[in-house]
Amino acid sequence: MKGLVLAGGKGTRLRPVTYSLAKQLVPVANRPILHYVVENLIAAGIAQIGVVISPETGETIRKSLEEGHFDAEFTFILQEEPKGLAHAVRTARTFLEDGPFVMYLGDNLIGSGIGDLVERFRQREDEALILLKEVENPRMFGVVVTDREGNARRLVEKPSVPPSNLALVGVYLFGRRIFDAIDSLAPSARGEYEITDAIQTLVDWGIPVRTARLETWWLDTGKKDDLLEANRIVLDEWTRPDVRGTVLDSSIVGRVRIGEGALVERSVVRGPAVIGEGAVVRDARIGPFTSIGRGCCIEGSTVDYSVIMENARICGVERLDASLVGCRSRIVRRARRDMSMSLCVGDDAEIEV
Ligand code: G1P
Repeated sequence: MKGLVLAGGKGTRLRPVTYSLAKQLVPVANRPILHYVVENLIAAGIAQIGVVISPETGETIRKSLEEGHFDAEFTFILQEEPKGLAHAVRTARTFLEDGPFVMYLGDNLIGSGIGDLVERFRQREDEALILLKEVENPRMFGVVVTDREGNARRLVEKPSVPPSNLALVGVYLFGRRIFDAIDSLAPSARGEYEITDAIQTLVDWGIPVRTARLETWWLDTGKKDDLLEANRIVLDEWTRPDVRGTVLDSSIVGRVRIGEGALVERSVVRGPAVIGEGAVVRDARIGPFTSIGRGCCIEGSTVDYSVIMENARICGVERLDASLVGCRSRIVRRARRDMSMSLCVGDDAEIEV
């Protein structure tokens, strides 16, 4: 069975960071979200993975996956225009050879593997198996109503009046018939070919669409708050203490990972937290629930519950909390007064306060 990762899209909800970075490459615990996705597919025995990319961010996606040294064979498929998830599947049809496949949205992070799901699908030879999760804000997702047997009966994309609180998680398993359903689609009100409509078409044709419930957490890392929450959960669940860099006159409390070539000096780092390779942390307090990217420099500052991306510099900031700071940005405090800040800044920003 092949895998299809959708890594196009614009990521408008995570701007400004996604002006210069694909949303699938935004780091959680210092690792691009996309890498967790690919790892999950590989762990389920899927080694042939098609990656749908956009003209804008395709090259960075390709580079990032190459740098990940995954044990998989990637085929990159260019989707010229963002015309929807169903359009992406149609674009990938040659790669998929009409065979069964797992489609995985490249910005979705889930707290469990998909091996059981893939196995169940393989054994039953169904045409569709979708993953559902109860959510508090169903308006933001594809929403599904199921029948007594747990098969999907009705699916609506981002409904203003949700018929249930069961959202479509971004992991779908399909057989050959989905291509026929996609061929019969008309664009939705937002001008896209919706995979949700294609699945509804299967239901309308009397083809059983099976469902499974996701029992663990799921984060659709569309927005800053979701991303910080994803960072918190991933750090909390998956950080193991591992200090490779140099630690001088500092206190490292709890589960902290410090990358090679990093320097932590006269500082307190509270886990769960990660400090990337080559980063410098000096006279600072970091964490908990904080990821400091590779090559960052944090001096005379307190940073907690935040994601600081590669090569950013934070200097003299009394307290930076619940923040997302883009690559190479500089946040420097000049004024002599205490202040607490919560920021969301993109790449290459310069902030002096
Ligand atoms: C897409 C799908 C939606 C699904 C969601 C999961 O929405 O259209 O049905 O619930 O992914 O992440 P998007 O996040 O692209 O707006």
